[in-house]
Amino acid sequence: MNGLDAIQRSVTDYQTLSAEELYARTVEAKRELGDRVMVLGHNYQRDEVIEHADFQGDSLLLAKLAAEHAERPYVIFCGVHFMAETADILSRSNQTVILPDMAAGCSMADMAAIEQVDECWEALARILPVEETVTPAVYVNSAAVLKAFCGEHEGITCTSSNARAVMEWAWARREKILFFPDEHLGRNIANKMGLPREQMVVWDPFQPNGGNSVEAIRKARLLLWKGHCSVHQMFQPAHVDYFRKQYPDVKIIVHPECHEEVVSRADLVGSTEFIIRTVAAAPPGTMWAVGTELNLVNRLKRKQPDKRVFFLSSTVCQCATMFRIDAPHLCWAMENLAEGHVVNHILVPDDEKVWAKLALDRMMAVS
Ligand code: 13P
Ligand code: SF4
Repeated sequence: MNGLDAIQRSVTDYQTLSAEELYARTVEAKRELGDRVMVLGHNYQRDEVIEHADFQGDSLLLAKLAAEHAERPYVIFCGVHFMAETADILSRSNQTVILPDMAAGCSMADMAAIEQVDECWEALARILPVEETVTPAVYVNSAAVLKAFCGEHEGITCTSSNARAVMEWAWARREKILFFPDEHLGRNIANKMGLPREQMVVWDPFQPNGGNSVEAIRKARLLLWKGHCSVHQMFQPAHVDYFRKQYPDVKIIVHPECHEEVVSRADLVGSTEFIIRTVAAAPPGTMWAVGTELNLVNRLKRKQPDKRVFFLSSTVCQCATMFRIDAPHLCWAMENLAEGHVVNHILVPDDEKVWAKLALDRMMAVS
């Protein structure tokens, strides 16, 4: 370590360092920490971050890894805030989770606040016996307090890889599902399961009764929170049509956060891990247009040179919050840790943790 304690420097001091220096210092600090640290990297992270990751994966895989590696007391989570919270909830009490930049949030997660979900639940309770008829199911792209809400109300969490199994579980128990905060993931899975359109309603948290009539709510089997991913909403049906026309042999593979009109035109739909594994396993010479975040697609292009990999949109769709985790932030967090200082500690309050863990454990049991 050179000179000053890392804690005495601001993270901005790291921003002027060269890529080579950042790389070397991060490697050195990680080497000093040895088995005490584990770096987890989401599939959307930049290369300069992923090269330091012990494990790379989608939300579900990373959540499982955090829980499985209790022997590593420090987890540096290179992803977004909700993922680091999930790792904290699932990890053991001897483990500390660090998010290199606290501003790495998720715009979709911000589309459902606990006050709004409480109001929705109360509104539903005025219309029907909500605790007996509705299972709340929250996408992991959400604050810990919403996962806790689900734990407390016999509900469950899901990820993009297990949403179908979760919805099957929920419908086997109760008549209706309140699915939040991503309307697209919920609708895409319900479409696959054959749920008729008239049994789905959208719940707009800014409208009385979510913008629905009492009759529509009574009839609905799926209440979809009006929320979306600002990255995946950029993919349009016209992009799929363009690639099909231009390259008749192309396979279209997209993330289920995309609009249903994109998903229904695609050949394959799945989580970030599913997308990577599917393209990696495809025969050489095959052509793929991929509808998910740009860093993932660019890495796929480089790692699969024997295939043609295209980004599905004509405009840049990058997750601006994932992008906040960069080499300077990672180096800053790692050097601090090596010097005995924990920065950006993610700590879910104990009362939330208990309920949120229950909802996550239910998900783990069905996936
Ligand atoms: P995955 O669980 O598929 O990695 O997706 C997480 C995410 O945030 C996608 O936008
Ligand atoms: Fe959130 Fe979308 Fe970024 Fe995923 S890609 S972390 S859903 S904003």
